[in-house]
Amino acid sequence: MRRLAIFVLLAGFTSLALALVLATAVYAVDPTPAVEQLGDVQTVAPGEVEGKPSGLSDLIGRLHPALVHFPIAWLVGLALVDFVGLALKREAWQRVGIFVLAGTVLSLLPTAATGLARAAHMPSDPAVHALLVTHRTLNFVVAALVLAAFALRLWRRTRLQGSWRIVYLALVFAATSLVLVAADFGGRMVYGPDYLPW
Ligand code: HEM
Repeated sequence: MRRLAIFVLLAGFTSLALALVLATAVYAVDPTPAVEQLGDVQTVAPGEVEGKPSGLSDLIGRLHPALVHFPIAWLVGLALVDFVGLALKREAWQRVGIFVLAGTVLSLLPTAATGLARAAHMPSDPAVHALLVTHRTLNFVVAALVLAAFALRLWRRTRLQGSWRIVYLALVFAATSLVLVAADFGGRMVYGPDYLPW
């Protein structure tokens, strides 16, 4: 149990660090000049059908839409389980919460990795790019909040009482609310900025 927890935590922090390095590399390059240098550019608008994957990273990135539901569902489930366990003080639910939290951390890793790979192959439309930066940044914050909650849960173990319990619940509820906002930005990239009325 302890080894598994350390593994999950290490995997989480390593992935977050890798993601930050990758993101810096991807966004350090302004896509506009590269596009202007090309003679025959085919612009692909969001929602348009794209051709076959151009390589392994393109293929991996295209798995992002299939994976995005997992962290959203895990986080919403975590908020519910922790509310019953820690806010309503049902002990059995508190134990379940630890496993749901570990599942949440693990579900974030492939989703963030495929998101970064997908970002590198997105069309260089400035409007989409702006949505992408917000989407990515919000999801990094979500990942950081979840990892902080996981570290706090491991550190306090059965002594998650008083103000630590409030801090933990605040981290979980903030991450859950933020992932929904971040997902909305993801959806706008795919279906267009006016897909939903807000
Ligand atoms: C880790 C939590 C993440 C969640 C829950 C998430 C969620 C989503 C959602 C819901 C969509 C819309 C998919 C659809 O409706 O088909 C989306 C699209 C997208 N996300 Fe994420 N995302 C995450 C992380 C990231 C990261 C770190 C990046 C890196 C920049 C990223 C880049 C993208 C891109 C490029 C799209 C557009 C996909 C396409 O047009 O095929 N995502 N994401």
